[in-house]
Amino acid sequence: MSRFWSPFVKDLVPYVPGEQPKLARLVKLNTNENPYGPSPKAVEAMRGELGDNLRLYPDPNGDRLKQAVAEYYGVTPAQVFVGNGSDEVLAHIFHGLFQHDGPLLFPDISYSFYPVYCGLYGITFEQVPLDEQFQIRVEDYRKPNAGIIFPNPNAPTGCLLPLQAVEQLLQASPDSVVVVDEAYIDFGGETAISLVNRYDNLLVTQTLSKSRSLAGLRVGLAVGHPDLIEALERIKNSFNSYPLDRAAIVGAAVAFEDRAYFDQTCRKVIDSREKLVAQLQAKGFEVLPSAANFVFARHPQQDAGELAARLREQGVIVRHFKQARIDQFLRITIGTPEMNQALLDALG
Ligand SMILES: Cc1ncc(COP(=O)(O)O)c(C=O)c1O
Repeated sequence: MSRFWSPFVKDLVPYVPGEQPKLARLVKLNTNENPYGPSPKAVEAMRGELGDNLRLYPDPNGDRLKQAVAEYYGVTPAQVFVGNGSDEVLAHIFHGLFQHDGPLLFPDISYSFYPVYCGLYGITFEQVPLDEQFQIRVEDYRKPNAGIIFPNPNAPTGCLLPLQAVEQLLQASPDSVVVVDEAYIDFGGETAISLVNRYDNLLVTQTLSKSRSLAGLRVGLAVGHPDLIEALERIKNSFNSYPLDRAAIVGAAVAFEDRAYFDQTCRKVIDSREKLVAQLQAKGFEVLPSAANFVFARHPQQDAGELAARLREQGVIVRHFKQARIDQFLRITIGTPEMNQALLDALG
């Protein structure tokens, strides 16, 4: 604390990201990164950008990337917003679209950045409990609200809400913005982007950090009605005109264009997940049904905090949340078959 701080800074409760250890050699299954590298074509395209060009500012609109995303999803570039990671895109959404009378609704067990943004932008919120099976119950969102946001698949549970249920939510709250945070959608879900032309209150966010293996590049996006996108552009252009650098614009665009590599690596992650689920179950774990690149699992006889600590001693890091309802679960990112085996060996 310092006398130079603006008054509201002292009350901020910032997000705590998962550990990025400085030690090499750890089997890192704690922050849902992709164990396979990004598209080699994307890497090559980025290398081509790293030269004399860097003396020039990048395209403030990231049009090359918007075009690639628009083509991939069959929408127009005016329906696409791009930013420095989906965290930044989400921040602009909270700032630009959720500051209304009434509470923002999101699940009680969900991405822990949401309450942090509410704190930053002075947004009131209400956390809607997941049911006993840790599923979102759409009926529970039929109440006055200033907006709805949830990850799909949810984080950290990995559970998927079917597209039909997403549509019910949209229909029940036609006068507020519904944001579907699809950070993990490519590992087993169906994107709600197919609904954006029918629902002007729908905004879908995605990231290149997971299925496109570019967490280190920081690129995220939103797709929705051009009026919603314009709100985000207004915020962005009042904050940072150039959120994406030259390498990020071209690398992310090529990652969208290289569909073969994307399909192949997603498939490998999904196959490994199915195998790991069965192996964890064989060890007595209860594993929630996952459509993401991680699983959420608990063992009836082992304390999750202790398990996480003992795994760490053996060089395997997973994520444990000290939070009501889920403090006996571990969130385990899907690694390569070798990484997953190291986890199983350590558990053994
Ligand atoms: C549900 C969810 N949304 C958004 C993000 C942010 O991703 P990024 O800022 O890397 O795009 C994450 C990251 O883990 C996440 O789990």
